[in-house]
Amino acid sequence: MVKSMDCNGYAAYGRHEPAGVTIWLTGLSGAGKTTLAEWLTPELERRGHRVESLDGDVVRTHLSKGLGFTREDRDENIRRIAWVAALGTRHGATMLVSAISPYTEGRREAREQIGQFVEVYVKCSLDELIERDPKGLYARALAGEIENFTGVNDPYEAPVSPEIVVETDMESVEQSAARILDGLERLGYLAPVTDCVAAA
Ligand code: ADX
Repeated sequence: MVKSMDCNGYAAYGRHEPAGVTIWLTGLSGAGKTTLAEWLTPELERRGHRVESLDGDVVRTHLSKGLGFTREDRDENIRRIAWVAALGTRHGATMLVSAISPYTEGRREAREQIGQFVEVYVKCSLDELIERDPKGLYARALAGEIENFTGVNDPYEAPVSPEIVVETDMESVEQSAARILDGLERLGYLAPVTDCVAAA
């Protein structure tokens, strides 16, 4: 019998640890995927999750080193990320994926392979992204210096029915992150903090 709940909302004696899940953040470059993943990591850890991050920019320095931005290479990149995310998810980790992942079919395959999958559309207008442009990539793409740049001269297929949508040109990072946490609670992947009952 469960005697008490810990302050993460999970029952004592480790019988109800969080199930594995992949939180798949998709959206244009600069939309805020990495920022949100970095914000969510300590919060999810505080609430009892074992978190691993797979970030497109980082993954492309090792697991996907040498891959470019043709459709074929992006599909391969997403397949590799999904493969690792599936492993972690199967072993109970909360996998935070931040990758543009512009094609519906690639995301669908990832969902099918991983199973426990929450698609988060990190939405932001192109005008805002061009304004932010911290890496100067939009300016270069618009000047014709970068080929196949997503949103400028390469497609982005927006998710049709993602589990969660955040709009980073209208919300603060804290608001968007809170919406993701709420969504995870609603979907049963995160225990509500209100379940906290002080142990006797
Ligand atoms: S994905 O399409 O394969 O999912 P991924 O998320 O790994 O892309 O990498 C995107 C990052 O690569 C961007 O944030 C940006 O820093 C960099 N990048 C360089 N060239 C391009 C390009 N042509 N299109 C999009 N991103 C690019």
